[in-house]
Amino acid sequence: MDKYGLTYITINRDHLLHNARYFKNKSGKKLIAVIKSNAYGHGMLEVAQILNDEADCYAVDSLDYALSLREHGFTKPILILNPIDLNYLDLVLENDLMITVSSLSDLQNTVPDTNKLKLHIKVDTGMNRFGIKCKQELDEMIQYIKTKNWQLVGIYTHYHSPNNEVYSKHQQKRFLEMLQNIEHDFTYVHLCSTSAVLNDLDLPETTHVRVGLGLYGICDSPEVKPVLSLYSKIVLKKNVSVEETVGYGANYQAKEDMWIGVLPCGYADGIIRHNTNRKVYIDGHYTEIIGNVCMNALMIKLPHPDVKGDVELIGEHVSALEIARHLNTISYEVTTILPSHLKRIII
Ligand SMILES: Cc1ncc(COP(=O)(O)O)c(C=O)c1O
Repeated sequence: MDKYGLTYITINRDHLLHNARYFKNKSGKKLIAVIKSNAYGHGMLEVAQILNDEADCYAVDSLDYALSLREHGFTKPILILNPIDLNYLDLVLENDLMITVSSLSDLQNTVPDTNKLKLHIKVDTGMNRFGIKCKQELDEMIQYIKTKNWQLVGIYTHYHSPNNEVYSKHQQKRFLEMLQNIEHDFTYVHLCSTSAVLNDLDLPETTHVRVGLGLYGICDSPEVKPVLSLYSKIVLKKNVSVEETVGYGANYQAKEDMWIGVLPCGYADGIIRHNTNRKVYIDGHYTEIIGNVCMNALMIKLPHPDVKGDVELIGEHVSALEIARHLNTISYEVTTILPSHLKRIII
């Protein structure tokens, strides 16, 4: 981590708590806080710490992230969403982690008969990613698990297009068909991600919602508040004369004499090159990134040479949703690519 760096992220504790409470109230269910991929770039440990009293469970994508939570003293249930390397199952058992299974064959070959193993079955209701598709296979899997000492604690599926009612109703129907005649008392039955909660796609059969994006306040809803801001400092101001160019490839040419500011952050800090020409905010003014973004630097146009304060690259005035539109991507990607070396300050 760049403890002494000039580029930094702030995480707004009140906004994060507000969002978590909003999703719990709206759904009326317990909260599995999705903090995978370093909490979508927000900082997994920081987010987990803030949500300690609100989340009922954390969901991460890898064994490494799960172990990091345990090493840092987090004792809540942790679900690993992605498949793991079963060669490291001893770490799963030692650290009381829950894993996701999409097929029995791997487990049959590797897993000892232990009552420490906690499983969630993933059901594929249409995404065609992880999960088991066939009802008969699911029933056989559950029967097999019952012959073992393993703990079958959860079952879940995932909407692929929660903004599309037709697809989602089809997935709901499929999930219910898969759940039919299963005589098992699951502690966790979960279905809804952020947009699914917002679009009221939950079912009475579930116990939890599995929310990521909404916690971070970067979904299209007036009810949530953005949690992350990204700032950098101007390390140099310089005058550029008309017709001079700025940066690699002479991609920007001054149309008049102007002032520019140099910031010590670039694509190694998650500000990819497509950010050229997009707006940033400083000292009460909107301005823009000019020229090609470098690996560890970028240049902005200055409204005047005396501007003060830090440059907001993401935040209250320049939202991740807006940046996503500029980059032709989704807000998930804008924050998730912010690397772990950037320092995160909880405000
Ligand atoms: C399996 C699973 N559940 C839940 C989520 C959270 O989704 P969202 O961030 O839209 O709330 C994700 C995110 O990609 C996911 O892959």
